[in-house]
Amino acid sequence: MRIGILSAGGDCPGINATIRGVGKTALTHFGMEVIGIKSGFSGLLKNDCIPLDYNALSGLLNLGGTILGTSREKPFKVPLGGENPKPQIIAENYRKLELDCLVCIGGNGTQKTAYKLSQLGMNIIGIPKTIDNDVWGTDISFGFYTAVDIATEAIDRLHSTASSHKRVMIIELMGHRTGWITLYAGMAGGADIILLPELGYDIKKVKQAILNRAEKGKPYSIVAVGEGLEIDSALIENKTGIETRKTILGYVQRGGSPSAFDRNLATRLGGHATELIVAQQFNRMVCVRDDKITSVSLAEVAGKTRLVTSDHDLIIQGQRMGISFGIN
Ligand code: F6P
Repeated sequence: MRIGILSAGGDCPGINATIRGVGKTALTHFGMEVIGIKSGFSGLLKNDCIPLDYNALSGLLNLGGTILGTSREKPFKVPLGGENPKPQIIAENYRKLELDCLVCIGGNGTQKTAYKLSQLGMNIIGIPKTIDNDVWGTDISFGFYTAVDIATEAIDRLHSTASSHKRVMIIELMGHRTGWITLYAGMAGGADIILLPELGYDIKKVKQAILNRAEKGKPYSIVAVGEGLEIDSALIENKTGIETRKTILGYVQRGGSPSAFDRNLATRLGGHATELIVAQQFNRMVCVRDDKITSVSLAEVAGKTRLVTSDHDLIIQGQRMGISFGIN
């Protein structure tokens, strides 16, 4: 068999470990031929690809980013008032490359595109990739815990300034309108107030939580805020009378080497992808369910987002310990 691999969407720790997991298993165990497609779906539009032999797949396990490059090309997006030839170009190039399957490593948008390509008759396997952990159909995606570790360390470091200067320190964390990184890093980093896009917040409750701490002899607070929620440091300062600063952690969260957990998750997901290919179980996304590697149909995944819900055990436990989620 001859398979193609691409990575699409934002970069994320563990993509290279996944390419290695798919590629080495495909080459070594199943005797397949492996082609790397450059820059996500853009590469399929231009037939921009490279052979992935054993040497090309070496040295990837701990490498950040993606050796194939990535892009946010959305081939099914119809330009205003125009025709869209891109899906047909991709289908033709898939045939020209004589691929038996295309492995798409990416987040929600990529899995939706992957599903649409499968409807054009291409054999597809999706692999969930995102630091945001918001891909529907999997309990976890690689990259998430690495990002949580980075964000937790950042919060740890903000505690010094918060307590030394007696300030409110706001930290905005990534998540693309979901609060997974903020919840997990906020709890692990000991944030006092954790604001999640899914739950929203009441500014009066945030103010009260900060003042309650000050009354108990802690005139400083850490506020972790999920990307997508607006919070104004000047407003917090005016309402509480406590000097307030804001830090946006940004792309640091998705750069660099994956954690050991994410390397192994990427390896396991990549390996399972090759098993599905050999069994000709196409048009599925590999996933984690109850700590087991399995798969789910792309039709089920496409167009959905995995959100944090207010009954998450970390939220309930946090509330029991006096942490404010801006709604309590
Ligand atoms: O999906 C990962 C992510 O980093 C999100 O957390 C963020 O909203 C988005 O990508 C940023 O995208 P871009 O790289 O296009 O700025």
